[in-house]
Amino acid sequence: MSYTLAIAAKAPIVAYPALIAAAFINTQTDATVKIDFIDEKDVEGASSKLTKGDESFKGDQVLDKLASDFPSVLIGAEASKEWIEFGQNELSVKDFKKLSVSLEKLDAHLNYRSFVLGYRTSLADIAAWGSIRGNAVMTSIIRNQTYINISRWFSFLETDKRFGGVLALFTEAIAEVRKQAKAQATSSGKKKETHKANFEINLQDAVDGQVVTRFPPEPSGYLHIGHAKAAILNKYFADQYHGKLIIRFDDTNPSKERVEFQDSIIEDLRLLGIKGDRTTYSSDYFEKMYELCIQLIKEGKAYADDTVQEKMRQERMDGIPSERRERSVEENLNIFTEEMKNGTEEGIKNCIRAKMSYDNPNKALRDPVIYRCNLTPHHRTGTEWKMYPTYDFCVPIVDSIEGVTHALRTIEYRDRNPQYEWFLNALNLRKVHIWDFARVNFVRTLLSKRKLQWFVDKGYVSNWDDPRFPTVRGVRRRGMTVEGLKNFVIAQGPSRNIINLDWSVIWALNKKIIDPIAPRHTSIVNPVKIHLIDGPEKPVTEKKPKHKKNPDVGEKDVIYAKDIIIDQEDADSLEDDEEFTLMDWGNIIITKLLKEDGKVQSIEAKLNLDGDFRKTKHKITWLADTEDNVEVDLVDFDHLITKDKLDEGDDFENFITPDTEFHAAGLADLNIKLLEVGDIIQFERKGYYRLDKKGESGKPYVFFTIPDGKTVSKYGAAK
Ligand SMILES: *[C@@H]1O[C@H](CO)[C@@H](O)[C@H](O)[C@H]1NC(C)=O
Ligand SMILES: *[C@@H]1O[C@H](CO)[C@@H](O)[C@H](O)[C@H]1NC(C)=O
Ligand SMILES: *[C@@H]1O[C@H](CO)[C@@H](O)[C@H](O)[C@H]1NC(C)=O
Repeated sequence: MSYTLAIAAKAPIVAYPALIAAAFINTQTDATVKIDFIDEKDVEGASSKLTKGDESFKGDQVLDKLASDFPSVLIGAEASKEWIEFGQNELSVKDFKKLSVSLEKLDAHLNYRSFVLGYRTSLADIAAWGSIRGNAVMTSIIRNQTYINISRWFSFLETDKRFGGVLALFTEAIAEVRKQAKAQATSSGKKKETHKANFEINLQDAVDGQVVTRFPPEPSGYLHIGHAKAAILNKYFADQYHGKLIIRFDDTNPSKERVEFQDSIIEDLRLLGIKGDRTTYSSDYFEKMYELCIQLIKEGKAYADDTVQEKMRQERMDGIPSERRERSVEENLNIFTEEMKNGTEEGIKNCIRAKMSYDNPNKALRDPVIYRCNLTPHHRTGTEWKMYPTYDFCVPIVDSIEGVTHALRTIEYRDRNPQYEWFLNALNLRKVHIWDFARVNFVRTLLSKRKLQWFVDKGYVSNWDDPRFPTVRGVRRRGMTVEGLKNFVIAQGPSRNIINLDWSVIWALNKKIIDPIAPRHTSIVNPVKIHLIDGPEKPVTEKKPKHKKNPDVGEKDVIYAKDIIIDQEDADSLEDDEEFTLMDWGNIIITKLLKEDGKVQSIEAKLNLDGDFRKTKHKITWLADTEDNVEVDLVDFDHLITKDKLDEGDDFENFITPDTEFHAAGLADLNIKLLEVGDIIQFERKGYYRLDKKGESGKPYVFFTIPDGKTVSKYGAAK
């Protein structure tokens, strides 16, 4: 009996388990399961459909049917039931929260196990492995070893052809589907669809068109890569659901905030390609929050406390109630609305605390402070207020009032989630879904404002936009693209584990974005001259593609001449009489090689353009030695600190890398003059570079090396 399995190639979660089961049957039995890839999001409403004679089965039934027809191949159907359901339900969701819970469960289960059940592959492995493979977000997590046990099990099974081979089959089919779609689009004259990352992740209870997310930076500094993650995720979900993103300046602490920072944050967001649908300010709600605080006090849910700070901290630690906890409503109201509001001597001594609990195991619930006096004028409201709501009080209220449906914030706030909900309940405000994600940490990188300021003050870096800084400005200047950052952030998605990432991870993603579009140019460092005896009498200029695989990148001028230059390093690798290849020109044969102290000084050679470039050992980049060449300064950088992860108690000042900036002077092709600051190119056989400054009045064009996640730099660490 033969079977046909139709797979929806564009399904949000591709039916890999069914595909793998088919591979088991096809390789181990005489039966045949014919596989059809359908270029659609579903096959009759399901991700797969199995046909056997007149019968057909869809979705979850497919695996059941195959297992019951081939029990000796797809073993363990009974025992695997729980795991099959787990695979089909819990690993095939796109909800961040659920996913990480499921992954944690599977990871723990696989500790000391090679297979999900017993000692050989069973249907349980097929269901779990296939579900993970089909879920685009998860594969990157698996690759990056966030869940060690899953990663080990996953790669182990991948080496099995029935698992890994299916992938190749699918990849080919997808490539075919894409090719056809592209051909169709081109022939019908439609604009080519740009390749866009689509991670297909769902938020809890999200309704298309109604999702509102927010990014609430405090205007007290520049954005760094951690903020970028929050901003990008919020923007991503707003877009995915055709909803709205609110940029909210959380300006509730006048001692730290300034107008300049507000402007710089808007600029930083622009560099990330993020524009909010609305820009708001927490300070717009001071009056409202004042009223809500009065409401809490009146209902006996908040009190004024003048316990000195040290003692209050100790009491909170020890779970002891404050002596002021039972003050009367009248007294509390008077202190809040008269003394604190006027910023009197008595007012300044007090703060308002929410009456949640004094001894809850979650310390965030031990009567948090919600209002404090501060006499510093506010950059928007001036001296109108002498007291300000705290972050803890302000955020849930403003989220709720502004219509935020999903508040995405980093996991450090997780302990404060119950507090957030307490405020909304106590004040009878609309609920907001909270979703927390892992903070990003990078090795050998400091994010603290104070520490970064120290590097600026001591002159280790030029400013906050220094390419060695983890600020948005810094990484953009170093050559990070918005797409690269975005893909990185989304790929990190459901993981809640705070890991210390190597920068190579993010740079490798960036490379994938820039490689297909970066124009190719040539630069020569420490030039050595080659005289081509039979080279062209006069320089000849020809148009050549800037990118061999992507004609859309355009053309550039290449000059062919009798005298050319190559890198000293390349010259030193050559031998007498050697035939080698000049890239994109042809072979030449050395007739004279002048050396001094082991270094090649100059070369004479003759053309052998019919020579076979596949037979030469060296393929070398070159430039015509003409006045047209442009002077360049190629700059590379190292991390500012020497230790991957500073421990508690380490003083970062003891781990400063002595040299972190490296310059190489060189010459580059004339096309460089047409570049604009910010353009990203590749210098062939050297790497990717971003133009940081155009050359003028005798100064060279300054290019910064863009790490590609692979190159190990001269000074050690992978960049
Ligand atoms: C497997 O996972 C558990 C729980 O996450 C962890 O403690 C253990 O070290 C892991 N085992 C291996 C072999 O990596
Ligand atoms: C995972 O790590 C590998 C190697 O470090 C890297 O190539 C890949 O891009 C990373 N993927 C994600 C999504 O971080
Ligand atoms: C606070 O200021 C208001 C308005 O200026 C004034 O009427 C009130 O008496 C002041 N209260 C205290 C305690 O100073």
